[in-house]
Amino acid sequence: MVSDTQFRISYDDDPDLEQAGQGLQSLPIIAKAIGGANLHYWMMSPAEQVALAFLLAQLRPKIAIEIGTRFGGSLQVLSHYCDHVYALDIDPDVPKRLGGRFSNVEFLIGPSDQMLPPLLDRLGRERAPLGFALVDGDHSTNGVRKDIDHLMRFRPAVPFYIVMHDSFNPACREGLRRAQWSSNPYVHVVELDFVPGTVNPAPAFRDQLWGGLALGVLLPQERTGRFEITARAEQTFKTVRAAQRSLLQRTASRVKRMLTKRSASR
Ligand SMILES: C[S@@+](CC[C@H](N)C(=O)[O-])C[C@H]1O[C@@H](n2cnc3c(N)ncnc32)[C@H](O)[C@@H]1O
Repeated sequence: MVSDTQFRISYDDDPDLEQAGQGLQSLPIIAKAIGGANLHYWMMSPAEQVALAFLLAQLRPKIAIEIGTRFGGSLQVLSHYCDHVYALDIDPDVPKRLGGRFSNVEFLIGPSDQMLPPLLDRLGRERAPLGFALVDGDHSTNGVRKDIDHLMRFRPAVPFYIVMHDSFNPACREGLRRAQWSSNPYVHVVELDFVPGTVNPAPAFRDQLWGGLALGVLLPQERTGRFEITARAEQTFKTVRAAQRSLLQRTASRVKRMLTKRSASR
């Protein structure tokens, strides 16, 4: 059983360049909540993990879809709280890695752009109680947009929560903004910064914006009021992006000046 003192912390001098400086990585109460001894490696911050676990514990979805499984970090929590999970990943090693560990998970291997439409069509025809989707697969603008647009064709039979990871990443955020949320009359809420992301401190990702959970909520009844995508950390996002652009411009001008000086002195 997991003890209360089993915190995982990555300090600044961690030799792993992808982990160094990330700070607190996971809390033992999450492993306790899902009754596991040790968690599968989960590619989310502790705040994101807690938020996802809380939503699932409250919603207890009968059916869930995960797009992007990797090492099974988020899948272990989905599997614990949902009756049945469809886990989509392009990587054929995923079921080899995790097959047999989760009796209520069906692995669907291939690009989500191909795997998602037939699955959603079938679940829609059956009026299946799809209650949750985690979008954490292709992180390009187009990849995120397409995943959401496919989900937007779905008419929910029960409250349907869509959580998207890495909403603070500029490419993902753009994909989330471009998606056709408003075309689905059952969408009531889209908040890009349900959990805000950060400027990643690890040397392998230094200065890149990652993390963050966006949340979309669909209900079985159509919305009657206003619809707008909201983003409570938009000012933070814009300020960081502007500071990064200005630093880049100043560095480029300095390099240009140095090169001009050098060629003039020859
Ligand atoms: C960031 S990882 C998922 C992490 C996992 N959700 C977690 O929290 O631990 C992204 C995964 O998406 C998968 N992926 C990338 N592009 C994809 C696509 N077009 N369709 C389906 N899966 C994709 C990758 O193979 C990888 O396993």
